[in-house]
Amino acid sequence: MRKWLLAAAAAAIFMAPGTGMAQSPIVIKFSHVVANDTPKGKGAIKFKELAEKYTNGKVKVEVYPNSSLYKDKEEIEALQLGSVQMLAPSTAKFAPLGAKEFEALDLPNLFASEEAYTKAMKGEVGKWLFKKLEPKGISGLAFWDNGFHMVSSNRPLLNPSDFQGLKIRISGSKIADRYFRDVGAIPQILAFSEVYQALQTGVVDGCENTASNYLTQKFHEVQKHITVSYHAHLQYAVIVNTKFWNGLPADIRTQLDKAMDEATDYTNSIAVKENEDALAEIKKSGKTTLHYLTDDQKKAWQTAMAPTYQWAKGRVGTEVLDLLSKELNIKMN
Ligand code: LMR
Repeated sequence: MRKWLLAAAAAAIFMAPGTGMAQSPIVIKFSHVVANDTPKGKGAIKFKELAEKYTNGKVKVEVYPNSSLYKDKEEIEALQLGSVQMLAPSTAKFAPLGAKEFEALDLPNLFASEEAYTKAMKGEVGKWLFKKLEPKGISGLAFWDNGFHMVSSNRPLLNPSDFQGLKIRISGSKIADRYFRDVGAIPQILAFSEVYQALQTGVVDGCENTASNYLTQKFHEVQKHITVSYHAHLQYAVIVNTKFWNGLPADIRTQLDKAMDEATDYTNSIAVKENEDALAEIKKSGKTTLHYLTDDQKKAWQTAMAPTYQWAKGRVGTEVLDLLSKELNIKMN
């Protein structure tokens, strides 16, 4: 009797109503650390909608935003273990995977614009970087954009010397560690979900991030001053567990690739506007003071942070730097 009940329960779950056909959707857990109302959050939801539509419901994408499933480092481990199938971490978090080369993308003042970023990542360097993930059991599907970093603390940060002695939260990149040290700050790695409290309680004095992340995590409510410095870029790599991905039926994978391509175009097309709107919202809130750098101040930051480029050669290697300089048509000394 008990056996019969179990079988009936299983049938109720796996039979498509009215068809008598067995149906158990393939589940893709997509974990990320930011809010739904951000470029990455919206991109993940767009991918879910398109993937479920193109596969006629054969694939179900479960999106877990705001570190609700895993925090920064844990989510990468979970992907390798197969507990989650898809992530979009910032490329600043790839060093624990042994893929330090991704940190080259965090170099200060590297990308002149969002267009320059998007174009570069579609080129040779993007493919080259994804190759670095292959031996780790991870496949890279796309690069997503979240615009340029601002920086904040409870005092105005206008000149490089204003950073002296400030503890600044960074997300993991040694390149960011380096450029903040160049201006005299003391960088500290913290998981994204811990930043608000760390700022509120003074565990750290400041942080860097994009406007959409400041707004949705309320960082601006616990920082008296934000400088719209756009000194570095925040980008994501959408990655999957290779064994899972390659094990999918070929037709399903084709539909998912199409969904990912479209979700990528969508995400990269909204990033600028999302961040502009978030910045306007932050301004309207009156909870912090926004500062904009003069040309001289911008130059002073660039000069102060320039030694990071030399240092980066030892950290990320010259190959990725050469590829970037070719793709971006810039000189890197
Ligand atoms: C951070 O930790 O600051 C970022 O990586 C968060 C994100 O994913 O945008």
